[in-house]
Amino acid sequence: MTVSLQRAHSVAALRALAQQALPRPLFDFIDGAAEDEWTLRANESAFDDWAVLPRPLEGAAQRDLSLTIFGQRLASPVLVGPTGLAGLFWPQGEIATARAAAARNTVYCLSHGSVCTLEALTQAMEQTHGSEQAARCWMQVFIYRDRAFTRELVERARKAGYGALVVTVDNQLLGKRERDLVNGFSIPPRFGPRQWPAFAGKFPWWWRMRGELDRITFGNYVREGSRETVAGLAGRMASMLDPGMTWDDIAAVRRQWDGPLLIKGLLHPEDARRALQTGVDGVIVSNHGGRQLDGALPSLRALPGVVQAVDGRIPVLLDGGVRRGGDVFKALALGASAVLLGRPHLWGLAVAGQPGVVHVLKTLDDELDRVMGLAGVCAVSQIAQAGVVVRAGGG
Ligand SMILES: Cc1cc2nc3c(=O)[nH]c(=O)nc-3n(C[C@H](O)[C@H](O)[C@H](O)COP(=O)(O)O)c2cc1C
Repeated sequence: MTVSLQRAHSVAALRALAQQALPRPLFDFIDGAAEDEWTLRANESAFDDWAVLPRPLEGAAQRDLSLTIFGQRLASPVLVGPTGLAGLFWPQGEIATARAAAARNTVYCLSHGSVCTLEALTQAMEQTHGSEQAARCWMQVFIYRDRAFTRELVERARKAGYGALVVTVDNQLLGKRERDLVNGFSIPPRFGPRQWPAFAGKFPWWWRMRGELDRITFGNYVREGSRETVAGLAGRMASMLDPGMTWDDIAAVRRQWDGPLLIKGLLHPEDARRALQTGVDGVIVSNHGGRQLDGALPSLRALPGVVQAVDGRIPVLLDGGVRRGGDVFKALALGASAVLLGRPHLWGLAVAGQPGVVHVLKTLDDELDRVMGLAGVCAVSQIAQAGVVVRAGGG
């Protein structure tokens, strides 16, 4: 383990290290959110509304963090969520992150906006970890204006052996991320005089990424033999978002994909009911980490309504603001089956690549294990029934 990782005892400490490691426009691309960033802050602070009411005499000497979800046995309820452009923060960032998830026996969800192709990811995982771990990789797509492209990605994901498909529905317009606008963040990154001060002094990142920067692209969008530039690709991606999508589009994906299908980006209980009626296998309560609709309800606050609407018929997962094992505990107590990470794993990746992501996952698992031991709960499957999480204000 690198010296800096040894000193990083929390996700917050890794964030600080990532800030030192990355050029400012890249750090802000990860860290920032839409407009006033209220939803980002509220996602994190929503966990403070709840407190643990421990029961120390329940005999929690042995704790079991494992679970089975969509037929996959995982060692932890902490999963790695989809984040675009991971390969910009560390060479082959997506593969490094998937290997870290494999090392912790958990899920890695690849973003549609990955630098590597979806095929390259599962091929790499099959080579090092076998097809079982490739199936622990999930694939995330959007409903694109060009529906044929959605169908194409779904078909490619099936052929490549992905174990579940995640359709993100809260990205139908691009959020107004003001840090990116101020920094002039773009894909490919610009290195003009305006950016120079931000990139100067980040020599280790430059050195590591030498030879890689030319290859930064949206791998899944590249057409063989096409001469489209990366800027052209980025523009095409943005123009493919579609606020006109409807439940019929989800039904079409359902007909095409016969494996586990999840919708990511639901907050409304009525939408959770519609998801059930449409034959979806799981919902991810999420507001995209506050990167899209600023003012959207914090994920943790939306969770109980969705859990009630779904009534145990399909798993409900949550992302947004998870920074501590205690946050995972509270989300599970409120009915989530598992949580996904967004920013935290990217901070680990930016600091140390694969070991950095392992460090984030291990830190959260260790914290969760400790909270379970102190709260008197022996298994993650028992957290919701244990009745040990209450409103922090009492009652
Ligand atoms: C840099 C970055 C890129 C992201 N890209 C995607 C994406 O391509 N698809 C997607 O569904 N969500 C994407 N997300 C959202 C995350 O999957 C997740 O919903 C959110 O980050 C969770 O909040 P957290 O960062 O507070 O953990 C991205 C998030 C970040 C930080």
